[in-house]
Amino acid sequence: MAKVKILDHPLIDHKMAIIRNKNTDTKSFRENVNEIAGLMAFEITRDLSTKEMEVETPITKTICKVLSKDVIVVPILRAGLGMVDGIQMIIPTLKVGHIGMYRDEETLEPHEYYAKFPKEIVDGTVLVVDPMLATGGSASAAITAVKKRGAKDIRFVGLVGCPEGIARLEKDHPDIDIYLAAMDEKLNEIGYIVPGLGDCGDRLFGTK
Ligand code: PRP
Ligand code: URA
Repeated sequence: MAKVKILDHPLIDHKMAIIRNKNTDTKSFRENVNEIAGLMAFEITRDLSTKEMEVETPITKTICKVLSKDVIVVPILRAGLGMVDGIQMIIPTLKVGHIGMYRDEETLEPHEYYAKFPKEIVDGTVLVVDPMLATGGSASAAITAVKKRGAKDIRFVGLVGCPEGIARLEKDHPDIDIYLAAMDEKLNEIGYIVPGLGDCGDRLFGTK
C-alpha cells in the first residue's frame, strides 16, 4: 500500500500561506512554489541509496558518500514546471523528463499531449511532480506513462492534495509513495481543491 506523507514543517506551512493567499502576485507565487518544492526534496530523498567515492580534500584523501542512482524529475505540464528549479537546486545531478497533461474542463478527464523522458527513468528514482492532486486523474495517467517506459522506482510529489486524489492514486498505483505539503478538505463541484490555492498553472504563468 502507498505511503502518504504530509510534510510537516514550519517553513513549508509559512510558504503555503503565501501561495494560498489570492493577493500574492505571480513572481512571489512562483518563487514560493519553487522554495516549497526544494524544502520537500530533502524529505523525499531521505532514503536514497549512496555509494562510497574517494575525494581529495586540500588536506588528504578521504572516502565520501554520493548518490548511487540517478534521480529524474518529471513535471506534469504546465503547473509541475513550477517545482523543477527548486528541486534542481537541491539535487544538482537531477535529470528532467516532461509530460504534458490537461484536464478537460467538463469531464475533468486528463489528456496527454506531450511526453519525453531520459533513458535513466528505467533504473533511476523518478519524482513525478504536480502542485495539485485534485481528482488524481492527471497524476495517475502520468505515473502510468512513466511505468510504460520502464520506470520502477516512482514517487509522486505535490503541494496540495485532497482525499479524492489520494484515493485515486492509492487505487491505481498502490506501489507509489505520495508526498504532499498539505492535505486539504475536499473537491468542489467544478473539481477545484477546497480551500486550495485556485488554478495553479494560471497563477504560476500569469495567464489569468
Ligand atoms: C491542473 C493541475 C494538475 C491537474 C490536477 O492542471 O496542474 O495537473 O489540474 O487535477 P486532477 O488531479 O483532477 O487531474 P490543468 O489541467 O489545469 O493544466 P495546466 O497545468 O496546464 O494549467
Ligand atoms: N488544478 C488546479 O490548478 N487547482 C485545483 O484546485 C484543481 C486542479
